[in-house]
Amino acid sequence: MQNQVTREQMIQSIRRAEPVFFRNTPQPHLVLGHMGAKAGVNPAGPADAADRMKRAQGLLTQLFPDCSFAGSPGRIESPLRALKGRASLLVKCDGELPIAGSIKARGGIHEVLCHAEEIAQTAGIIEPGDDLLQLSKSKTRRLFAEHEICVGSTGNLGLSIGITARALGFRAVIHMSRDAKQWKKDLLRSHGAQVVEHEGDFSTAVRVGRAASAASTRSYFVDDENSTRLLYGYAAAAPPLRQQLAEHGVYPSADHPLCVYLPCGVGGGPAGIAYGLALEFGADAVESYTVEPTQAPALLLSVLEQRYEGLHVSDYGLTLRTDADGLAVGSASVLAGPIIGALCSGLYTESDEAMQTYLQQIYASDGLRLELSAAAGLGGPARRTQIEGLRTPAAQIAWLTGGGLLPEDEFQRLLA
Ligand SMILES: Cc1ncc(COP(=O)(O)O)c(C=O)c1O
Repeated sequence: MQNQVTREQMIQSIRRAEPVFFRNTPQPHLVLGHMGAKAGVNPAGPADAADRMKRAQGLLTQLFPDCSFAGSPGRIESPLRALKGRASLLVKCDGELPIAGSIKARGGIHEVLCHAEEIAQTAGIIEPGDDLLQLSKSKTRRLFAEHEICVGSTGNLGLSIGITARALGFRAVIHMSRDAKQWKKDLLRSHGAQVVEHEGDFSTAVRVGRAASAASTRSYFVDDENSTRLLYGYAAAAPPLRQQLAEHGVYPSADHPLCVYLPCGVGGGPAGIAYGLALEFGADAVESYTVEPTQAPALLLSVLEQRYEGLHVSDYGLTLRTDADGLAVGSASVLAGPIIGALCSGLYTESDEAMQTYLQQIYASDGLRLELSAAAGLGGPARRTQIEGLRTPAAQIAWLTGGGLLPEDEFQRLLA
């Protein structure tokens, strides 16, 4: 069983691109409470993000008339569903998030709003805490048009940042890694964003984008490898989840925790969700697990090696080739890595073939249309049962992180 596998043996399996499951020992005190400052996070951050998103509802309704959740216009939230096919599993349908159709809507829209709010405050257009509806006025849009927002992405963060930035009137420059799907680039261009295509991987797209942005005055770089604004946007998912769980009769506790399976790329999304859940329910009442492709286990290797900077999966002979474009990341975020190491109960990998099976199964049983990255967590409960001595969960959630904007022909290709 798992406990008999040494760290060295696990690294050998990872090198051979075999699916592995690492049971981690969480150390939540390293990021919660006063230690949070050392880890670079502030427990007030997620509530501040939630407040900003609330103040942005009028603005988002104006910019995106279709944006709403559960009858609440301008709200960026997604449903928690029970599956027809598998009663024991709940799914959090972030592919249904408005505007960007993926988990990246949470962090990306939040960071663009932070930046827009900052510019408008500096210009004396709004005061701290104001409703953000004023940011849609033509005078403010003219001001934003003088500014650029730039990001490096495998696709979905680019969509989230690019679509929101353009809607507010900013110039948007999106550096896309070689893994990014053509339809995501086309969609961004249709919104008037400039797409810069790279031959290199995600880390390269981020590095080049960061340097290009730094060389330009009035360019703001959304740094997926180190952004608290993104992280707090993801973390703001946790408080509404309490109510959603209650609607399913689920009340997580230290005896019966909530188990959550989170597809993981650079780590910001899963770190943010894990952090938000630990703040909301208490670290004892949650078990968060990350899942990465067998060819791109950046976070797993970082936690195993206790090395959160400078590690790349290619150092282990891995290719980074995966059809799960959102998870095709070779190096972990320096902010997210230690948070995942401190909060997650386990980190595991899946082959592309396994993810594809999950994608097909959930479409056949429940009609849910996912992209490959989004399906990664569906095998989590079965993988967890292989670990001995774990608590009986109050509920298990596979976080379905994207697929909302997937064109029909792309989805058919994935199904085939
Ligand atoms: C669909 C999907 N799921 C999960 C992730 C992982 O998020 P992160 O890179 O923040 O770990 C991404 C990243 O782009 C994604 O597009």
